[in-house]
Amino acid sequence: MKNKIKPAKGKLGVLIPGFCGAITTTIIGGVEGIKKGEDKPIGSLTQMGRIRLGKRTEKRCPLIKDFVPLSELEDLVFGGWDIFNENLYESAKKASVLDRPHIERLKKELSSYKPMKAVFDRKYVKNLSGSWIKEAKNKMELAEMLRKDIRDFKKKNKLDRAVMIWCASTEVYIEESEVHSSLEKFEKGLKNNDPLISPSMIYAYSSIMEGLPFINGAPNLSCNIPALISLSLSKGVPLAGADFKTGQTLMKTIIAPGMKARMLGVNGWFSTNILGNRDGEVLDDPDSFKTKEVSKLSVLESILEQEKYPQLYGELYHKVRINYYPPRGDNKESWDNIDIFGWLNYPMQIKINFLCRDSILAAPIALDLVLFMDLAKRAGLAGIQEWLSFYFKSPMHAKEVYPENDLFVQLEKLENNLRHLMGETLITHLGKEYYENTAA
Ligand SMILES: NC(=O)c1ccc[n+]([C@@H]2O[C@H](COP(=O)([O-])OP(=O)(O)OC[C@H]3O[C@@H](n4cnc5c(N)ncnc54)[C@H](O)[C@@H]3O)[C@@H](O)[C@H]2O)c1
Repeated sequence: MKNKIKPAKGKLGVLIPGFCGAITTTIIGGVEGIKKGEDKPIGSLTQMGRIRLGKRTEKRCPLIKDFVPLSELEDLVFGGWDIFNENLYESAKKASVLDRPHIERLKKELSSYKPMKAVFDRKYVKNLSGSWIKEAKNKMELAEMLRKDIRDFKKKNKLDRAVMIWCASTEVYIEESEVHSSLEKFEKGLKNNDPLISPSMIYAYSSIMEGLPFINGAPNLSCNIPALISLSLSKGVPLAGADFKTGQTLMKTIIAPGMKARMLGVNGWFSTNILGNRDGEVLDDPDSFKTKEVSKLSVLESILEQEKYPQLYGELYHKVRINYYPPRGDNKESWDNIDIFGWLNYPMQIKINFLCRDSILAAPIALDLVLFMDLAKRAGLAGIQEWLSFYFKSPMHAKEVYPENDLFVQLEKLENNLRHLMGETLITHLGKEYYENTAA
């Protein structure tokens, strides 16, 4: 496998729907600051993480970026689409994730980025309206316009490779239906303006058709439909999603595996949030909230496996609320009350109050995903990349298996995938004593 990975030569395009949003301005501002040597890539596994190789006695633990061939940050070229026509310096001020002195320090770099016109449909994001929007007779024509944008961007910046990552608003909740069931029906639907084809699906289709790996950072259905999964396999394009695992859900997937590991019961988990940025405003619409709610609710079921442990988790009541509260901006605050029980059924409680910065947690995830998805493409991997579940609230997975949500299993899976790609032995954690003391 190792010899089959194409080198990370030349520049890598990073194309982002949602170009003027909080996450995007935080990624690009961050990468620009890091390139200048003024900031550090904290939270990024590809930039700071190490991976153990071989036996513990070998003491081999290189940085991940020295172990697998990844693009350098200097080689990333950013571009994207948004419904607001403003440069990223203006957008970063509005998003107010980075503080003002920080933004001023990056003014020259951020001002140089401007979005391309977006593919947008207000029916899918009810609480936003913008004017920087493409117009066409039908959805297939919109896809062709996006595909031309991609080709032009690659040509202008002399790029061989690019990745697309959806960092745009959460679309309203829709379920998979007939038009999503095959490529033929989907393409017919694009031509007939089928209302069940959302903008994020048009971006995903364009990305795959142009050979770009596609990542979905939001919970909408987007690329997770049979038509696009089969297209990605036939085009040799990797897919990953959905919904970046930041804040409260990150905490959930750290705490819940611990409760289960110790066979402690959980009968209630109440999660509430206040959030005041544009994402919060979009999620204030019940149909967009429903998409997020489904994504946030799914994690506990698969970690706690109620059907296998009915005495411990059979009665679990799980509730998630998100409240739009403008004064907080991107500095989300979340509260979790967890009702647990132990030996002889005695009840206990855990309270978590996380004062996080959502996009500060999301930006390094997005960066890692871009670099790993480019690696996946160069290694010849196509379709759903389950080994990247680590980064998502509702990881895409094959229909016949349940998703893996436990953060620690997800990390092991990711690391073993890298070892496998590079021809290293997979780590099982069987100790030295097992091999030495076990009778043959
Ligand atoms: N911020 C986080 O930490 C976080 C964590 C997990 C998931 N997410 C998801 O990531 C997405 C982005 O989050 P954010 O905080 O940056 O939101 P944001 O509201 O700041 O940015 C979203 C941007 O997308 C643009 N947009 C909307 N529809 C578009 C379209 N069809 N084409 C192009 N641009 C479009 C909006 O104009 C806006 O500038 C959201 O869906 C959010 O739910 C965010």
